[in-house]
Amino acid sequence: RARGALFDLDGVIVDTAKYHYLAWKRLANELRFDFTEADNERLKGVSRMRSLDILLELGKFDIGEALRERMSILKDNWYVEYISHMTQDEILPGAREYIQSLREQGVRIALGSASRNAPLILDKLHITDLFDAVIDGNSVTNAKPDPEVFLRGAKSLGLQPGECVVYEDAEAGVEAAHRAGMKAVGIGTSQTLPEADYIISGLHELVGKSVLQER
Ligand code: G6P
Ligand code: MG
Repeated sequence: RARGALFDLDGVIVDTAKYHYLAWKRLANELRFDFTEADNERLKGVSRMRSLDILLELGKFDIGEALRERMSILKDNWYVEYISHMTQDEILPGAREYIQSLREQGVRIALGSASRNAPLILDKLHITDLFDAVIDGNSVTNAKPDPEVFLRGAKSLGLQPGECVVYEDAEAGVEAAHRAGMKAVGIGTSQTLPEADYIISGLHELVGKSVLQER
């Protein structure tokens, strides 16, 4: 029975992909090229700078480090402006209830997100208190699929990696979990997350039961 649960944020607890999309699209449009929702799929779970590189590649832009840095800041300012209007209604169905039920069962909870905006998002959604530890893009050097974020999560909870389960919607996140020696519950489909140990369409499916107890 797992003693710790590590949650990705974007796409698992809240759907921020649409705000990332709006901000990246705005940047692409400023640079006079289009950026579609399908293109945006490639950016899920990917770090900010890597996302920018993918975007610039799509627009066939080859630019230097200093300008890339400024573009990433521009995009982030727009993104922060969008998410600053977020409300508690934007928590994905079942997320709060499920995490609360795990807490009641004595499971320790950590956030394991690549986003440097994670603390702001948790604050906007009023769910900071649900987490015993928060590991995000501000404290991690190696992005998923590197296992660093989840290994630090387990450590902050005072648990061994094998005692923790990860909840992820991105393939890179599932790989990071496995490389950390943890099971991964995939939020998606067996097509999008072929490597996940267990697939659900969202945390609402788990409210009232515990995958952690079943295994
Ligand atoms: C998550 C999202 C990505 C985002 C990354 C960094 O992994 O799925 O789309 O690029 O976090 O987020 P940040 O808020 O720091 O730009
Ligand atoms: Mg995600």
